[in-house]
Amino acid sequence: MTTADIRSKFLDFFKEKGHAIIPSASVVPENDPTVLFTTAGMHPLVPYLQGQKHPMGTRLADSQKCVRTDDIDEVGDNRHLTFFEMLGNWSLGDYFKRESISWSFEFLTDEKWLGIDPKKIYVTVFEGDNDAPQDEESIGIWQALFETRGIVADLGNRIRAYPKKKNWWGPAGLTGPCGPDTEIFYDTGRTHDKAFGEECHQNCDCGRFVEIWNNVFMEYDKQSDGSFRPLAQKNVDTGMGLERIAAVIQNVETVFETDAFQPIIQKISDLSGKAYIGNERAFRIIADHLRAAAFIIGDERGVVPSNVGQGYIVRRLLRRAIREGRRLGIADAFTARIADVIIGIYGTHYTELETNRAKIVDELNKEEDKFGKSLEKGMKELEKMVSKGSLTGEQAFLLFSSYGFPLELTEEILREKGQSVDRGVFEAEFKKHQELSRTASAGTFKGGLADNSVETTRLHTATHLLHQALRMVLGDHVEQKGSNITAERLRFDFSHPQKMTPEEIKKVEDIVNDIIKQDVPMHCEQLTVDEAKKRGAIGLFGDKYALMGDKINVYFAGDFSKEICGGPHVERTGELGSFKIQKEEAVSAGVRRIKATVSGRL
Ligand code: ALA
Repeated sequence: MTTADIRSKFLDFFKEKGHAIIPSASVVPENDPTVLFTTAGMHPLVPYLQGQKHPMGTRLADSQKCVRTDDIDEVGDNRHLTFFEMLGNWSLGDYFKRESISWSFEFLTDEKWLGIDPKKIYVTVFEGDNDAPQDEESIGIWQALFETRGIVADLGNRIRAYPKKKNWWGPAGLTGPCGPDTEIFYDTGRTHDKAFGEECHQNCDCGRFVEIWNNVFMEYDKQSDGSFRPLAQKNVDTGMGLERIAAVIQNVETVFETDAFQPIIQKISDLSGKAYIGNERAFRIIADHLRAAAFIIGDERGVVPSNVGQGYIVRRLLRRAIREGRRLGIADAFTARIADVIIGIYGTHYTELETNRAKIVDELNKEEDKFGKSLEKGMKELEKMVSKGSLTGEQAFLLFSSYGFPLELTEEILREKGQSVDRGVFEAEFKKHQELSRTASAGTFKGGLADNSVETTRLHTATHLLHQALRMVLGDHVEQKGSNITAERLRFDFSHPQKMTPEEIKKVEDIVNDIIKQDVPMHCEQLTVDEAKKRGAIGLFGDKYALMGDKINVYFAGDFSKEICGGPHVERTGELGSFKIQKEEAVSAGVRRIKATVSGRL
């Protein structure tokens, strides 16, 4: 059974159970500046889990493109991946525990579907605490299901209960929908390694049990004071890592040995003349990182390598892969040739990869060319610096600014030599440079927009003013659903049930133009999520900001608008000249789109 077979079986199964199959959302979140990438299947569905109606109904299933960047540096071992596909099914106030658990068991064990021996399945449930009781219902459902297959499932053995740390999902430390979960494990049959504890159990890290599926029962809405209120609608949110279940079904030890990775591994071997065995780490880094980079660049909302935000992650992934390639002895440009193989594997299901093939190849070639040239020189420079003593934060910054070494790459090279970098000094240098480049509007560091011209910056500020004005005129239900800025116009999608009247449009324009006339200063503050909320900032508060610590940027237009955002913005609203709404139209049920321009004074 191939990875593609498993994916389509999963979707077919849930279609049979009355689910609408929805396409994967973009891997670049559209409305959540607090997180760089979509990290779970539920992420794009948060508004619906909170009660908004989904146009496709109350039962949904998909295969979602996900990127987790927390442990890029761990990739190379036998289990970490930055990009992965998450299979998931959802009930939005429809079915609950009984159906969810029964269907998971059926899909995994029935001969018609995956046909896993039920004796190999072990599960966990929530053990209860002051916030919520032990999940007796799930325990009972599991026991009955195992019994139908002649298996006695005792609590404390085949079913184990664990505290919140293990059996509670979301929200990522903040507020929002969450609840107890039940995790499903596969017993690989490997002998328990006592280095991990006397007794083996589902959550033991010795490698015998592999977690394959998580069923979350979202019954609570975590409040900002830390309390848990029952959610108006009880949801199910499940997630199964496709690569992992493929490794289980194909009976291989690591995801890198599954059918989806093998052609990539083979290509790296052809290009380097080296075998995978003996060079696992380098092969895995190259395969994982190029797969992630191809999906991020080739996404509907594709991001290209840069020095900020998501673009910086793409750059880090590519540069780390390029270094490993050179170390394997691949002298010529190779990343695009491997991307070709990746697109070949995934392009049928994720057609955007085919559509964006030329862009992916072009961006990889450009980045490899740019970095390839300075890699050797930078390595020489680094060796020189290190031979004179340990590397300073300033030197690490020099490697970054002059040779394009992402800080994390320098850190990794130093780790190999038993040294480290002073991050504080590096970040201070980084900030100093950023300030300089902002005033000089030159240099390496630029803010969050793809094209950082004066026009797009003005339109970006105008988008904030528009967002706030819409909320004032139409109401607080207005939330950003999408934003796109070119040098000519802004495009802003937002939630609102009906067409705006000409009077409403006029009012919005007047409010924005009034703030422009007042010429209020724009300023940015770094706040924690809680502080941002207290100050009344708008924008979705999702996962924790993953790149530069846990503070987020909040931009203020005087005290008129406060919004979580990566910038850049003009210094004073007067620079916008005047603001005009050119078009107001429908995008989909409940979502409107405005196109607007600014003109005049800079
Ligand atoms: N959202 C759950 C997870 O990512 C299913 O594990």
